[in-house]
Amino acid sequence: MRTFAIAASIAVLALGLTGPASAQSPIIIKFSHVVATDTPKGKASEKFKELAEKYTGGKVKIEVYPNSTLYKDKEELEALQLGSVQMLAPSNSKFGPLGIREFEVFDLPYILPDLKTLRKVTEGPLGLRLLKLLDSKGITGLAYWDNGFKQMSANKKLVAPADYKGMKFRIQSSKVLEAQFRALGSIPQVMAFSEVYQALQTGVVDGQENTWSNIYTQKMHEVQKYITNTNHGYIGYVVVTNKKFWDGLPADIRAQCEKAMKEATEYGNGQSAKENDDALADIKKTGKSEIVALTPEQDAAMRKALEPVYQDVAKRVGQPLIDEFLKETRGATN
Ligand code: LMR
Repeated sequence: MRTFAIAASIAVLALGLTGPASAQSPIIIKFSHVVATDTPKGKASEKFKELAEKYTGGKVKIEVYPNSTLYKDKEELEALQLGSVQMLAPSNSKFGPLGIREFEVFDLPYILPDLKTLRKVTEGPLGLRLLKLLDSKGITGLAYWDNGFKQMSANKKLVAPADYKGMKFRIQSSKVLEAQFRALGSIPQVMAFSEVYQALQTGVVDGQENTWSNIYTQKMHEVQKYITNTNHGYIGYVVVTNKKFWDGLPADIRAQCEKAMKEATEYGNGQSAKENDDALADIKKTGKSEIVALTPEQDAAMRKALEPVYQDVAKRVGQPLIDEFLKETRGATN
């Protein structure tokens, strides 16, 4: 009786795996992220969905969950490792808690003068090597996506390094960003992106740093009187997938998804700068936040105040990695 039941269930299972119904049901890829759809990452993920579904002839269905609707920052990486979600695009600043610190090198203040210089890193051997580090965590790195350059916001005008003293700033989970705010005499506080607006509104923190598109789409400008145009750091993403899931895809489907990813990356990175410019224009239109420009002297003072962060961080990510990064990026306009 028991043998029969087991045999019957094996037969049902086999039928289920190979039968016509399952051959037609698409492979679902859940893609979770924390920003709004109308941002560089939001748009690139929608483009990936469109292209992956097209190239696989509907054999793959991409479900994009924006705005932390499925998972918040910390949870999403755990969910990826557990296989509850198949794709994410966390910022470079968010891999430290996973035990991969090297991506924090992208957080170093003023390390990237522009996006063209960034490509030398992300599209060169260093970028590839960094992606490979994720393998040991059961994660495959698929691409680098842009957001853009960060600005500082608060209810106080931030022009000189001394203005930052004693203020609480929300940061992403990166030790480099922690060191950056400590160098300014501020108190950094790690917080999920989804909680920033409320924390600013209620005064749990005094300020934050982010790109124009993130500030605008999260309405941070409505609860911050001043945004200083510092361009002091960069936010970009690593598109990641669960390695076991990705390796287990039929080879043709995987190749079609890789093609879709390549094209979605070109599309997204091709317009990220414009999206941030548009968001800045939109913020200006609301009149809710004053945009503060730094004089060359004020800019130089900020750069000088943040120089010690490089030594701090060398202890964490290693001086050779910083040197290698700088070899690619300096000599441009920085
Ligand atoms: C942040 O947490 O500020 C950003 O990394 C959010 C994002 O994904 O752009």
